[in-house]
Amino acid sequence: MVSAYAPGKAILFGEHAVVYGHPAIAVAISKGVTVTLSKSDSWSVENRPLSPSRHPHINWLIEKNCVTDKPMSIKISSGLFPAAGQGSSAALSVAMQLALSRSEGLPSNPIEAALFAHQAEAHAQSGLASPTDTATSSMGGCVVVSNDLKGTAERTFQATLEVPGGTRRWDVGPVSLQTEEEPPVLVLGYSGTPSQTGKMVSMVAALISGDEDRKRDLDSIGELTLMGLVALRSGAWEAVGMTMDACHDKLRSLALSTPMLENLISAVRPHSLGAKLTGSGGGGCMMALTYDADRVAQSIEMAGGKAMITPFFSDGARIIEP
Ligand code: MEV
Repeated sequence: MVSAYAPGKAILFGEHAVVYGHPAIAVAISKGVTVTLSKSDSWSVENRPLSPSRHPHINWLIEKNCVTDKPMSIKISSGLFPAAGQGSSAALSVAMQLALSRSEGLPSNPIEAALFAHQAEAHAQSGLASPTDTATSSMGGCVVVSNDLKGTAERTFQATLEVPGGTRRWDVGPVSLQTEEEPPVLVLGYSGTPSQTGKMVSMVAALISGDEDRKRDLDSIGELTLMGLVALRSGAWEAVGMTMDACHDKLRSLALSTPMLENLISAVRPHSLGAKLTGSGGGGCMMALTYDADRVAQSIEMAGGKAMITPFFSDGARIIEP
């Protein structure tokens, strides 16, 4: 039996814009997905036959690892809200890849897991996905992804994706903070409505192809992300919060917010340094950066959402040793 764990993620700045090569910054959160593999007579997920349409990520990874003839029973347990912009499919893919490698007797390699999981995400997301969620889940901590890190961070690896019209490239590196102080915490608020990443990515693609103003919103998110990176590096948390607010305004212009996300964000703003939707939007989660986590969590619950408190830093993916 082999088990692997991979955390979910929260995007501080840059969702959607990163699909087009702009930078994004994300952190691993303290909850995630555990995958357990045991030898069996046939492939199954939670005791039901493996279905490529229900589990496209898992099916893709089994095929790419050339292990279709080594059937296993797959058990999945998740501490994440489902389809909520917390990177549950990325965490599932990363944990699955680590567990598959270990079951083949190979050393666990977080970069390889990130690369395989990114391709699995792209496959399931109609061909368009940045490596943000999968890289953050694999590496843990705070991660920057961009088509050009321009000396802003050391590159740990490069991810590529074949898309109609060519190859997209993203550099991925860690963000290290130069601060002595304890960072504020993040509180995520689930709006209760699922967020469909593939659909929202396609919606943004359609929106920017016919509207220069909306394309400029994506460019502005890229510029704000670079400002957010400088603020983060120096531990200027108020500036980090203000940049989150500014990113949210741009995401709202791109029609990615919902009335419930707006309610939750308004409810937490008086007790937060900053708040925004996180992930693909159209539902899913918002998040707040705050020194008053209990108050923010309470405000989210009172406004009808579900709250999850997570420290600013959480570890990345790992094999769970028996
Ligand atoms: C989803 O968590 C983040 C998006 O930017 C999509 C992606 O990066 O692939 C919306």
